[in-house]
Amino acid sequence: MASSHPPIDGGTVLITGASSGIGLELARELAPRAQALVAVARRAERLEGLKGELSARHPGLVVRTEPCDLTDPDAVDALSERLLEDFGGVDVLVNNAGARLQGLYEKSDWNRVYGLIRLNVVALTLLTRRLTPAMVTRRRGGVLNVNSGAGAAIMPGMAAYVGTKHFVTGFTETLRAELDGTGVVVSQALPGPVETGFDEATTIGTPGVMDRIFRISAARCAREVIQGFERGRPMIFPGSAYRAAMTLQGDLPRALQRRAAGSQGRGLRKTSA
Ligand SMILES: NC(=O)c1ccc[n+]([C@@H]2O[C@H](COP(=O)([O-])OP(=O)(O)OC[C@H]3O[C@@H](n4cnc5c(N)ncnc54)[C@H](OP(=O)(O)O)[C@@H]3O)[C@@H](O)[C@H]2O)c1
Repeated sequence: MASSHPPIDGGTVLITGASSGIGLELARELAPRAQALVAVARRAERLEGLKGELSARHPGLVVRTEPCDLTDPDAVDALSERLLEDFGGVDVLVNNAGARLQGLYEKSDWNRVYGLIRLNVVALTLLTRRLTPAMVTRRRGGVLNVNSGAGAAIMPGMAAYVGTKHFVTGFTETLRAELDGTGVVVSQALPGPVETGFDEATTIGTPGVMDRIFRISAARCAREVIQGFERGRPMIFPGSAYRAAMTLQGDLPRALQRRAAGSQGRGLRKTSA
């Protein structure tokens, strides 16, 4: 019988973007339960720091650091190969690494847009493509994609970022449907403002107000995201006030959302002229 819980306990867990923010807290949250944790990001020294911390706290845990620039699909492929060879794959894949770009799209630097798509979309889909077949064969596994509230919104000034996150929304929902009944649990988290270096607070709604009401710590975000993942929730909105707002937003007619976004867009164009 296929399991409906992600195999975290005693499993091999891969977390991208584990060097800071939400990914770092996800690593801390999962470390007491996993058998092996693979931490991926570019900053090797931060990954080594995490390894030292987790190994000291959890002596039985195997921590593998994999410094990797995920905007390079060849490097992502090579990483997947190594994990398949050394661990036979992973039990849980957490696609968390992400970046964003701000500003009017017509003025954006194409190389940065292309890099954003390779990180937020290509790396996530490629790791999923390489690592889910072994999960399906074993009839157990988990994929957790760290998306964003942007994946369910219209946010002028962030067209490329919002586009990549809408991709994650559709991809994850559909992958979940395809893997239904296979024992592979697929969930996505759509956080609002979280205290990290990243910070979307100033771009969702009125700055300051939303910041105060919705902002949560990265540790709380990680805790609630893992709880939702374990329950097999399709979409996880961490933080109670933000969750309520996103539920309300989902009920708003699209035409109304478009009108509000259009007025925001005109405002943005005026201020950036
Ligand atoms: N913070 C928020 O308000 C917020 C809200 C909604 C959604 N999110 C989502 O949450 C996820 C994590 O964001 P965060 O807030 O924790 O941001 P963060 O603190 O900036 O962390 C981003 C992580 O991604 C890694 N990363 C960035 N570029 C990379 C690359 N080219 N190759 C490999 N790793 C790379 C970074 O590590 P290195 O720099 O060491 O490579 C870092 O570990 C993102 O997907 C973001 O969209 C965040």
